[in-house]
Amino acid sequence: MKSVKLIATNHAVPARVVTNDDLTAWLDTSDEWITTRTGIKQRHVSTGENTAALALAASRPALEAAGWDPESLDLIIVATMTPDDYMPSTAAQVQGALGASRAVAFDLSAACSGFVYALTVARQMLAAPGCRRALVIGAEVMSKVLDWQDRSTAVLFGDGAGAALLEATAEDHLWVSRLATFGDQGHDLTAGKTTVTAALPHPVSDLAPLTMDGRSTYRFATHQVPASIQDTLAAAGISPDEVDHYLLHQANARIVRQVAKRLDQPLEKFPLNIARYGNTAAASEPILLDEQIKAGAIKRGDLLVLSGFGGGLTTASIVMQY
Ligand code: ACO
Repeated sequence: MKSVKLIATNHAVPARVVTNDDLTAWLDTSDEWITTRTGIKQRHVSTGENTAALALAASRPALEAAGWDPESLDLIIVATMTPDDYMPSTAAQVQGALGASRAVAFDLSAACSGFVYALTVARQMLAAPGCRRALVIGAEVMSKVLDWQDRSTAVLFGDGAGAALLEATAEDHLWVSRLATFGDQGHDLTAGKTTVTAALPHPVSDLAPLTMDGRSTYRFATHQVPASIQDTLAAAGISPDEVDHYLLHQANARIVRQVAKRLDQPLEKFPLNIARYGNTAAASEPILLDEQIKAGAIKRGDLLVLSGFGGGLTTASIVMQY
């Protein structure tokens, strides 16, 4: 095996749409504030479907499009920061529901960088003999970890899932990634903190909602995302000008514009769909990737950069040939 090839993609979102105006029913916010500060106009919000269900809804049509029997999968990775359960993993639930009985399945937690982390891990695992086909999913139900009364975070996120099928190939497909973790800054973005309080007759535990230092995260993203992309391109021996599409994590349209400026690349190379989905964390890049492929904007042979950042803190970039 020389490399891996991206065979098919798909995405799924809950049917319910919550607009910025809808949020003003209970939050002191406005469409104008949210639009100008973030580029978000609406987000999809679960009406009960959990992360594994969205992951499955994204995956099944991708498998059908590729003509792959779930039994032919060797590996399933679900990148998520919002699993259904601590145990079993979301990936194990997807594996069971698909009947992909030969596949090893596990979750990967790297917040919004999760999809690129998962692509990177899948690439390594597909290098092993006997491992040929992988299903890599980014899936989130962010709505269940939000404090819906906190206007500084509730307006930013949405739910969704994106799936990609990868296959080991003897062809020479460019596929280089760089991952980084900044654990000393982890306090800037947290969700689901568990606290265990010593009490009798047994400890009491609780889950805390998402918290974010918005300004600090903004600074982190506008500096570390360009650095991550530059590192990755240097490792691949590719110049920024040679890249056809930069698919960036959709956290804030202003961040995307800043990154384009720092890389000295035209904005047309940086598609945006944040207006319709908000920040769907690990699902953000596979949803954008799928939309761009289905719209015909991304064609076979194009050079793509996928780059994410988020909780951890983490960054992750990959340059690949589609
Ligand atoms: N509606 C109206 N006003 C608001 C809202 C809201 N929804 N939220 C905050 N405000 C107010 C604040 O209270 C503040 O008011 P004050 O000046 O009276 O104190 C004012 O708006 C400005 O607030 P800032 O936080 O300074 O606004 P800023 O321009 O920094 O934008 C934002 C905030 C959009 C969150 C920005 O900082 C940002 O995008 N940060 C990065 C977020 C990000 O990338 N997160 C990634 C998460 S990835 C993951 O792993 C989960």
